[in-house]
Amino acid sequence: MRPLNVLSVASEVFPIIKTGGLADVVGALPSALAQEGMKVVTLLPGYPAVLKALNGAELLHEYPAFFGGPASLLSGTAADLDLLVIDAPHLFERPGSPYLAPNGRDWPDNARRFAALSRTAADIGQGLVPAFMPDIIHAHDWQAGLVPGYLRLTPGPRPATIVTIHNIAFQGIFPADLLFELGLPASIFTVDGVEYYGQIGFLKAGLQLADRITTVSPTYAKEIQTPEGGMALDGLLRARSSVVSGILNGIDDQVWDPSTDMHLARSYDRESLDARSANKRALQERLGLKPDPDAMLFGVVSRLSEQKGLDLVLAGLSRLLSGGAQLALLGAGDKTLEDSFQSARIVYPGQVGCFLGYDEALAHQIQGGSDALLVPSRFEPCGLTQLCAMRYGSIPVVSRVGGLADTIIDANEMAIATGTGTGFQFGPVNLGAAIDAFERAKHLWRDKDAWRRLQVNGMKADVSWHRPAKQYADLYRSCVARA
Ligand code: ADP
Ligand code: GLC
Repeated sequence: MRPLNVLSVASEVFPIIKTGGLADVVGALPSALAQEGMKVVTLLPGYPAVLKALNGAELLHEYPAFFGGPASLLSGTAADLDLLVIDAPHLFERPGSPYLAPNGRDWPDNARRFAALSRTAADIGQGLVPAFMPDIIHAHDWQAGLVPGYLRLTPGPRPATIVTIHNIAFQGIFPADLLFELGLPASIFTVDGVEYYGQIGFLKAGLQLADRITTVSPTYAKEIQTPEGGMALDGLLRARSSVVSGILNGIDDQVWDPSTDMHLARSYDRESLDARSANKRALQERLGLKPDPDAMLFGVVSRLSEQKGLDLVLAGLSRLLSGGAQLALLGAGDKTLEDSFQSARIVYPGQVGCFLGYDEALAHQIQGGSDALLVPSRFEPCGLTQLCAMRYGSIPVVSRVGGLADTIIDANEMAIATGTGTGFQFGPVNLGAAIDAFERAKHLWRDKDAWRRLQVNGMKADVSWHRPAKQYADLYRSCVARA
């Protein structure tokens, strides 16, 4: 089989610029796909962090006037990735978050910024870079949602398009009067095109016009086709259900490997799990928790937002901590949640420790030092932290939604008896069910042998990109064959 050229289009990539799991996926998938005979090049906006990381930059094309200013298309490499970068200082030369201004609000010109990203991808799809003609354009989330739309504006051959939904809560909806500024003709402003309840919907347009739609777990693929989970796009997704599929995420098993992890006090594998106690101790010290090996330690590594259900942890905190258990939380986001966890630290000194901000090393230390990891999300397209937890021998306690439902095997009586459980699931997502799961975890933790079996089961599971990459490769081949 000849190698396929894939242009992956995204607004963030680990380790260069990251706000969430999207970056992890976009950063790890290319090398896994290379094993499947795919040549992946990733197109990114020219944020300062991207330009700084870019090695061997070459100028491929100049746009004298591109969405309000001059821009150039660069190629180069960074962090083992082949990159194309749209360097448009008037759009991307801004510090901090890729999406938010320093006042915490969306940049007012986000429509233009990410339309520019999609337009560049479409141009590459139509031959702008003769040395790299994509067979497939793989567009991630709303920021790349206009790619299939722009590709339709020019007649002639075009690559197959795939849009992946990482989170349907973010849709990129903008006023209709931007149409002209975004280079979109009135003819595409229809219900079959970019129009979305009288506005322009970037994700909607992508879902309407892409050849294939994927999301990041089979259960989320079903949930988004229901009125409860579809956030107003369920009708469209049901109408296109024959091209919708769910492919579970993996994690980068080199970045997340407890046997080589430089962030940990002690490295370990499933034969040397006792060494984890040194990491627990170090974590307790780092976050001001009582250095007690006999206190069960729950961890959280999460964005703090409504999605993640951490208000349930706050509401159930006294039950979670009863009997001397502890909580180590790393998170950032919603101010009210941040303040509440800060207060909890004062109310439960030595039992609640938190760091409010982004800290890559601490994320690893919580995975390598906690006994259990809480992921009580209201919805979760896939979730990566429960996969990291499995690999690190921290037992996931999760809600039964989306990718959490697809990745964790609940340690019910039968799963314990047959030795198949890997964590605890609860549903529906409410306080009573969450507290039940906390109690079940605390109860089983006292049975050291049973707990050890859960750890080993999780650590044996393949949570790498190996299998998902094969599924993406099959999907790519099937759309190229059809085109
Ligand atoms: P989402 O993309 O919805 O935030 P995921 O579970 O898919 O959720 O991915 C989250 C990623 O971000 C994981 O790699 C996790 O370790 C990381 N992460 C989340 N919050 C923080 C934080 N405060 N500091 C460091 N890493 C974080
Ligand atoms: C989104 C989702 C998360 C998923 C990640 C990567 O941010 O919230 O569940 O794991 O994308 O696909």
